[in-house]
Amino acid sequence: MSEVETPETDDRLAADTDLVRNYLDKAICPPQMSEAETARYISLIKELLKSKNARLVAHYYTDSVLQDLAEETGGFVGDSLEMARFGRDCDGETLVVAGVRFMGESAKILSPQKKVLMPTIEATCSLDIACPIDKFSAFCDQHPDRTVVVYANTSAAVKARSDWVVTSSIALDVVEHLMEQGEKVLWAPDRHLGSYIQKVTGADMLLWDAACIVHEEFKARGLKDMLQMYPDAAILAHPESPDAVLEIADHIGSTTQIINAARDLPNKDIIVATDQGIFHKLQQVAPDKNFIVAPTAGNDATCRSCANCPWMGMNTLENLYHSLKTDSNEIEVDAELAKKAMIPLQRMLDFAAELQIKVKGKA
Ligand code: 13P
Ligand code: SF4
Repeated sequence: MSEVETPETDDRLAADTDLVRNYLDKAICPPQMSEAETARYISLIKELLKSKNARLVAHYYTDSVLQDLAEETGGFVGDSLEMARFGRDCDGETLVVAGVRFMGESAKILSPQKKVLMPTIEATCSLDIACPIDKFSAFCDQHPDRTVVVYANTSAAVKARSDWVVTSSIALDVVEHLMEQGEKVLWAPDRHLGSYIQKVTGADMLLWDAACIVHEEFKARGLKDMLQMYPDAAILAHPESPDAVLEIADHIGSTTQIINAARDLPNKDIIVATDQGIFHKLQQVAPDKNFIVAPTAGNDATCRSCANCPWMGMNTLENLYHSLKTDSNEIEVDAELAKKAMIPLQRMLDFAAELQIKVKGKA
């Protein structure tokens, strides 16, 4: 099987691919705005954020205008773990989460007393779509001897069924810790991240079979060709990328870890295998470096994303303004479900805090 093929014989994956396509059809590219219109929306949003004591919490994959606006107004831009932490700890009464649905849900679970809005609630994630609670729960029931570890890119119901929630910045450490305790892991939903963790840690892991439609498009062959043009370049990759890409990467990590590596590595040329939205922050932290998008399948029929998450792209100034102005797209999570999902989420945050203390202690 070539590296671009997906296992079409797998019924579950084939069905989920259809499901992802249905959602993708809704993710229409937002129209461009004039400079004057952009400035008008920015000023209106700034006023609303202030009058409502609201904080804008944005992911690195969102439009650069939203990222700047978050930082200029006392909000935050970060990876999914940091977004959750900021949302929980900040003093705003309302959080506006510019990202995808699981990020809004995590914010609400961690801060039930805060109002959580999203510019659009249609913004989902292929990993979340491909891990429906009924099938996932049945899978867990078949393997009661395993500790259930789920990626944050899942619904509140899937989180509630798990023992641990992890993000890409902490997944390796958590699984290593579980392995030391002699535990066997049931991992969901991203098969690339799961298999990467399995390889690095040697843990006994049973993997769910889903993928991120953005990262899955990166191609090792194209990367090798690109290295001939940029022989001194470093390759930085998000662990949702396929195995063959990760094998030739110089650094693998979450979005924040990629940004830190880009800043700290001596290489001038840096090839980046993750969503292009991250280039805004990369250029801010290392303006003298040359950042290059890792090659995807190109413009042929197989490229469904070309290094742009269609759902992150649904967050715009216009729908952000509308949501804030009318308090629409409020995220609600059933109280019982939230209580259950809070346990593995809190476990992750406590583990992350302890890890930080250990790292500081060693420094
Ligand atoms: P990070 O936690 O690295 O920001 O990743 C979130 C995500 O959705 C990557 O595709
Ligand atoms: Fe989900 Fe991939 Fe988009 Fe991240 S980039 S939100 S994993 S579809």
